[in-house]
Order: sequence, then structure tokens, then C-alpha cells
Amino acid sequence: MRNEQHKGRLTRDGIRIHDRADFAGMHTAGELAARILDEVADHVFPGQTTGEIDRMIEEKVRDAGARSATIGYKGYQHASCISVNHVVCHGIPGEKRLKEGDILNIDVTVIVDGWYGDTSRMFVAGKLSRKAERLIQVTHDSLMVGIEAVRPGNTFGDIGHAIQSFVEGNRMSVVRDFCGHGLGRVFHAPPNVLHYGRAGTGPVLEEGMFFTIEPMVNLGRPETKVLADDWTAVTRDKSLSAQFEHSVGVTAEGCEIFTLSPAGRFHPTWG
Ligand code: MF3
Ligand code: CO
Ligand code: CO
Repeated sequence: MRNEQHKGRLTRDGIRIHDRADFAGMHTAGELAARILDEVADHVFPGQTTGEIDRMIEEKVRDAGARSATIGYKGYQHASCISVNHVVCHGIPGEKRLKEGDILNIDVTVIVDGWYGDTSRMFVAGKLSRKAERLIQVTHDSLMVGIEAVRPGNTFGDIGHAIQSFVEGNRMSVVRDFCGHGLGRVFHAPPNVLHYGRAGTGPVLEEGMFFTIEPMVNLGRPETKVLADDWTAVTRDKSLSAQFEHSVGVTAEGCEIFTLSPAGRFHPTWG
């Protein structure tokens, strides 16, 4: 019997080339992940716990008839990662309460009909401070600048270079210790999508490649460390950190974003 799990060819860099029908599967998965983030937005407020937000996400994934990609992934036990203030990524939801002005990234990955939809965005509990607003704006825009570099013939280095120059031009720093990744019928596949680098380096983009771009940007220095829980990554200098993530597919013209917000709520100050 033909194995339908993994069709299509791999490039010399081990990157899978998907066909048109595969784009439809990714749009369905990506849209669900994005819709779930749209729906949790109203439940982020001072006094709320990140554990409660995670339980809501887990229920929404289940109600949609989908599966969480993170529950059981390398021993991780939650349907989301929630990274508050100086937490860079992989924050574990818990019973600590959000405070006025806290900024947080919520990262959700769902599996629908075998396809993975992975997206994250920033939220704020209460009122956004000026410096957090600037960090969030630059981080959001750095993802969009990276996405604009996605087209056949460009390289992964072009994406990283576009993000890094934009962020550093705004006197902030790009985290080097974590990167985006290929995805599709798997969660993490080649290539590593770096958010820094030199133009013209790295694998050449081809139509049918699926991957995430998920820059983490710090107000201070780029160095991170992982806490004793083996997941939570924080800035070494305790400066604020932000992240946005989209899953995209390369088309002949450029790319399609699989994880667009159905409600237009990707950016926290919109809607
Ligand atoms: N969704 C994260 C990413 O963007 C991965 C989370 S893995 C977990 O790649 F185990 F921490 F949930
Ligand atoms: Co990801
Ligand atoms: Co993610």
C-alpha cells in the first residue's frame, strides 16, 4: 500500500516539496490555530492565570475535533506555551496570575487531518506600556518583513537577514538560540529557519516548501537561558521579549500564510 503520510520529493537539504492539495490541509490546520488565539484574546486580563487560558485552549482544540501537537511532545503536557514578559519562549502555563501591563506570547500548534498549524502572537493584560508597545510593534513587523522575503529563488538567509536588519535598525536584538522550522505532516522538520544571517546564504526557497517564521526579539541583549524546568527560556539580562509566529507555504509568486487571524486580531492593538 502506498504510504500517504509522506509524499513528494525532498530537496538536497532534506526539505519536503508539497503539492497544491497539501496547501488546503495546511490552511485548515493553520486557520484553526489562529481562530483559537482569536477566541482567547478576551480572556487575557489582569488576575487571570496562564493555566486557565491553557485549559480553554485545550478544550477548544478538542471541541474542534483536532489534536494538540504539544501535549505529549517530548514530555510537554500543555496545549500551549505561554511566555510572559522576559520569558522568550516555551513558558509553561501555571497558576500564577497575570498583572496589569504584563505582555505574553501564546503559542498554539494543532493537528487537523494530519497537518500541523503552528502560530503565536502577543497579548497584553490590561494596558500596554509604551516600551512594550514598541517591542511588540517591531517584533510583529519583523515577522512581516521576513514573510516579504519568501519567494522562489530567494534563500533562507534572505529571510533571516531581512528580520535581523529590521530589528537591529530599531536598536533591539534577535534571539539566536531558537529558530523557525519546516512543518507539514510533522511538527519540526528541516530546515532550521534562522531569524538572522547573511543575504544569499542557506537553502534556496522552492514552491511547495512549508515552514514557520517565528522571530523572538529582546529589548536588551539576545542571550537566553533555560530554567531548571528544562522548558522555560528567559532573557539572561531579564529584558522584555516578544514573539510572533506564522506558518507559511511557498507559492510561485511568493507565499501563502496558513495562520492568518480570521477575526483580524493577530496584532494586539487591532480589534
Ligand atoms: N510551538 C512551538 C514552536 O513554535 C513549539 C512548542 S513545543 C512545546 O515550534 F513542547 F514546548 F510545546
Ligand atoms: Co513553530
Ligand atoms: Co509555535
